[in-house]
Amino acid sequence: MNTTVPSAGTGTAGTATGGTSSPLPAPCSPLPVIAGGVPDDAAARLERYTAAERLRWAAETFGGRAAIGTSFQGAGIVALHLAAEAGLKLAVFTLDTGLLFPETLALKAALEARFGIEIESVRPRLSLDAQAAEYGAALWERDPDLCCQLRKVMPLSDKLASLDCWLTGVRREQAASRAVTGILERNERAGGRVLWKLNPLADWSRNQVWAHIRANDLPYNPLHDAGYRSIGCSVCTRPSGACDADERAGRWTGFNKTECGIHTFLKQSSTTTKP
Ligand code: ADX
Repeated sequence: MNTTVPSAGTGTAGTATGGTSSPLPAPCSPLPVIAGGVPDDAAARLERYTAAERLRWAAETFGGRAAIGTSFQGAGIVALHLAAEAGLKLAVFTLDTGLLFPETLALKAALEARFGIEIESVRPRLSLDAQAAEYGAALWERDPDLCCQLRKVMPLSDKLASLDCWLTGVRREQAASRAVTGILERNERAGGRVLWKLNPLADWSRNQVWAHIRANDLPYNPLHDAGYRSIGCSVCTRPSGACDADERAGRWTGFNKTECGIHTFLKQSSTTTKP
């Protein structure tokens, strides 16, 4: 399995907005859309597609049973822009933990206005007050794993029950643990149901994402200009040093924790299939 992380200027990102810098061959024919199924070679072929083509494939294959999940960081903004440019009707949701930065909520509104879309806020079953009553105040300070479980993983799991394809902004370059992320990943659910996870920007570098945002004058979270390279809940996110190798270093500082759990709770049933 090839686990090489592409550097800036490689991968399919160069062709996503019409450029020609990609060293990978263009797909020779569109992926067939098979009612109720996904072709066996879809994962391998999607690796060679541009991000925009990957989004189109998801929209055409899954229709209303596909949705982009975004926390309005770089890759999510690019995905919303590419989908809008291509006229794709892809649903969009965010996990609103009740602990997001005000800047993040303002960005949600700005993106809705810019792209003329409505972004669903998926909320936890417990309000913050109810969580404090049941588990004590400021659970995130004592047990951030449990807090993430209650406020992100469980609401996401509920949301995914209505989907066949979840689109994320995960990128291989974000962390060592994400280096093997496939563009298309197959996950098994209870009852044998399959959930496809599409990571259309997995092979984009951070530089490519931000070049796209700047070139298209897209709204972004002003916290990025204040040193926040990865942004989650306000109570668990700090600015990270520009020299931190791991761009997610500002998340859960002080805890031995690098993932909130939403990308690790599913049972993946296929490995990365790269050409
Ligand atoms: S995470 O550890 O918070 O999951 P990260 O911030 O690196 O990771 O985000 C990676 C991807 O996870 C995002 O591009 C998005 O697809 C998804 N994600 C993270 N947080 C949220 C959220 N609050 N709502 C919806 N999707 C999210």
